[in-house]
Parts: sequence; C-alpha cells; structure tokens
Amino acid sequence: MSNNKIAILGLGYVGLPLLIAFSRFYEVIGFDISSKRINDIKSSTTINNKSLVNDVFFTSKKSKLSDANIYIITVPTPLNEDNSPDLSKIKLATEIVAQNISQGNIVIYESTVYPGVTEDFCVPIIEKISKLNYNKDFYCGYSPERISPGDERFTLNKMIKITSGSTPSVADFIDDMYKKIIGAGTYKASSIKVAEAAKVIENIQRDVNIALINELAIIFDGMNLNTNEILEAAKTKSNFIPFKPGLVGGHCISVDPYYLSYKSMKLGVNADIINVSRKINDNMSNFIVDKTINILIKKNINIINSDILILGYTFKENCADTRNTKVKDIIYQLMKKKINIEIYDPYVENNNDFNFIENPFLNEKKYDCIIVAVSHNQFKNYKVDDFIKISKGKLVLLDIKGMYNFSTWKL
Ligand SMILES: NC(=O)c1ccc[n+]([C@@H]2O[C@H](COP(=O)([O-])OP(=O)(O)OC[C@H]3O[C@@H](n4cnc5c(N)ncnc54)[C@H](O)[C@@H]3O)[C@@H](O)[C@H]2O)c1
Repeated sequence: MSNNKIAILGLGYVGLPLLIAFSRFYEVIGFDISSKRINDIKSSTTINNKSLVNDVFFTSKKSKLSDANIYIITVPTPLNEDNSPDLSKIKLATEIVAQNISQGNIVIYESTVYPGVTEDFCVPIIEKISKLNYNKDFYCGYSPERISPGDERFTLNKMIKITSGSTPSVADFIDDMYKKIIGAGTYKASSIKVAEAAKVIENIQRDVNIALINELAIIFDGMNLNTNEILEAAKTKSNFIPFKPGLVGGHCISVDPYYLSYKSMKLGVNADIINVSRKINDNMSNFIVDKTINILIKKNINIINSDILILGYTFKENCADTRNTKVKDIIYQLMKKKINIEIYDPYVENNNDFNFIENPFLNEKKYDCIIVAVSHNQFKNYKVDDFIKISKGKLVLLDIKGMYNFSTWKL
C-alpha cells in the first residue's frame, strides 16, 4: 500500500468496479450521496461478515472525505429536459471535494463531459470554495470510463484507459496509478481537454453511424427490401463497417452527443451531422410504432384492445440497465392507442410502471402481435412454434433486432 488515499465519489456502474480495482493497491474511501446506495454496497460486498474489498471505508458523509489526497469523481452527467447538459451532479460532487481538499491533492474526473468541463467549469468551483490555486496547490486529471454494460469482453480491466493530467508530472502520476489496475494498459493523452473530447467522440461516432443505418433501414423498408440482408451482402467488402439498425437508448450514446452539440452551439458552430443523427435515432420508436399499426391493420386486427407482447425492455441486450430505454417510448405510444401491452424481460424485475409479466411461454395467454425489442441471449433460442403457441391467430412477429428467419417483419 502506498501513502496515497483515494476517495471515489459516485458508486454506480462506473464508480464501484473502479473502487474494487483500486482497493487492491490503495486505501480507498467510497462515497455516495445516497445512503441507501452505501448500505446496499456494504451488504453486497460483505459475505459472512468478511469484506470482499480491502481497506475500503464506505460513507455518505462528506466530512469523512478530508483524509483522502486523490479524489475521483464518477457521478452521472445526464441531460436537462431541453437536452442541454445537466451538470448539477458533477457540480455538487466538485463542491464536496472542494470543501475537503488540501495542499497537493489531485482531483480526477471520469464522468463523460464536453471538452472544458473539468478545467473551465469545475476548477473555478474548487478554487473559489477551497481558496487553493489550480496547478499550484491542487491538480486535476481526466480519465474517461469506457465499459460497455452487459459485455464481458469490455470490462474495466480489459480496455485501454485514457489518462491525462493538468501538468506533465501529474499526468505521469495519474497514468501510473491507472496502469496498476488496467491489464490492457493506458493511453496518456496530451491534455485534459483532449481526453474529454476523445471520450465524447467515441459515442458520437457510434450514434452517427447507427443513424445512417437507421435512415437506410427506413428507405429500404419503403422498398420492401430487408436491411439485414443488404448489410450481410455489403459487409463482404473489406472496409464496410458492420453497424446495425435499431433503437439507441441508454445513458451514453443517446446522451453524450448532446454534450458536444451544446458546446459547439456556444462556439457558434452548427453540429449538423451530430444533431440530425440524434433526431433520426430518437425517431426510430415512432417508426416502429407506425409500422406496428400498419401491420395490425393489414392483418385485419382491431387496434383498440388488441394484446401486444413486448419481449425485452432494457436499453441493450444481456444487461439489466433500463436507463433511457427507447422501448419505453414504444410502449407509451402503443398504450395511447388503447392497445394492451404486456412486457417480458428476464433482466428486469417487475415494477409498477408497466405490465411486466413472468415468462409468457409458460403461460396460456395469447397475443395479437409480439414485438421482440431487445436481443437478449435467452430470446435467441425461441422457435417459430413457441411464438405460434402464444399467438391468437396467425403469428404476427415484429423483430426489431433481426433475430429470427420466421418474423413477419424485421427492421
Ligand atoms: N455506465 C456506463 O457504462 C458508463 C460508461 C462510460 C461512461 N459513463 C459515465 O460515467 C458517469 C457515471 O455513470 P454511471 O453509469 O456510473 O452512473 P450511475 O447512475 O450508475 O451511478 C452514479 C452514482 O453517483 C451517485 N451520485 C450522484 N450524485 C452524487 C454526488 N454529488 N456525490 C456523490 N455521489 C453522487 C449516485 O447516487 C449513484 O450511485 C456518467 O458521466 C456516465 O456518462 C458510464
């Protein structure tokens, strides 16, 4: 153990694995604003009164943070109603650090932001509250998280981690710290702003590419051509990039582009491609609802009081994360049309928002239409007979993820 003591603020999807990894090398304080979250973590990381994380002190009391000399902030950076960046959580975490920080300390941000949030938004807050001077009395760093929820291939340890620091020696220090916990190694960016920008464009590149494929999917659908078949053929070209059409939800790809778009607007630059891609991807739920209604009409099924089963609710396959899921938009729109909706997702616990049900394939209930919205591995095994068994008449299967070769319609 070194003399350094790390405090991690925000113990969610990003903060908790980071805390577990650093606890193998450093004394760590785990801080979360939510005392419920702290209690849940304490009980889930303790088995038979034995802690699974070494030298970790968990707290939701901000006064307990002054023992640390390195602060890592991993709090959410969501959007406001108007899609502008909601920096309130990162501001509060920064204020808490500023009340505890002392001479020589380092503050590292991991939350996704637009370039400039660390040095132009957060640093002045720290200076004002702590009365310390940046790069004289305290230092900063930025090291974005890149984990991909639900994908075991891309966990914290397995992906190169970008690091950066506010002076060359602080950048080296931060890089060495992360090298200890990241098996795949680190990439030291030339500045904090470069590191911030690199993170945000990773997700923007994905959003823009998916938007293009979604636009193509809508065009080809109008021509009765199946986009999946076209993509299979096109990808035999060596440099064709294999993106797929679909809903873009979650707290990263559907959020981060708005951060850069906001910053570019402040600069007077139009982020045209970024903005139109967001619009196209956000509109996919409307397209799927319209498609569903058209298919029901064509099949002579009465829309009002029809029964639709939706398979999959999370924003992405094989994980329990429902944040910003676009399946919710589909459900709301179908419910507005007085359609009865039941939802089955093996990853989602029944909540009171919607009519979540247990495995429908084990029940007697029958449906007018089934929409497969998320490609969870469990759904891949279903055969045509399984779907027919729970269908009222002829099978009407809308397959958003292109999973089956017997679907009525595929995106
Ligand atoms: N989840 C991912 O896969 C992922 C991947 C890359 C980047 N990110 C980014 O990392 C950041 C954190 O995301 P997350 O998914 O871990 O969020 P999360 O919602 O899972 O967890 C955040 C935690 O922070 C706590 N919190 C909120 N405000 C706080 C404050 N002021 N002080 C201390 N704790 C506070 C919350 O109670 C919560 O437990 C975001 O900027 C996100 O965009 C997330």
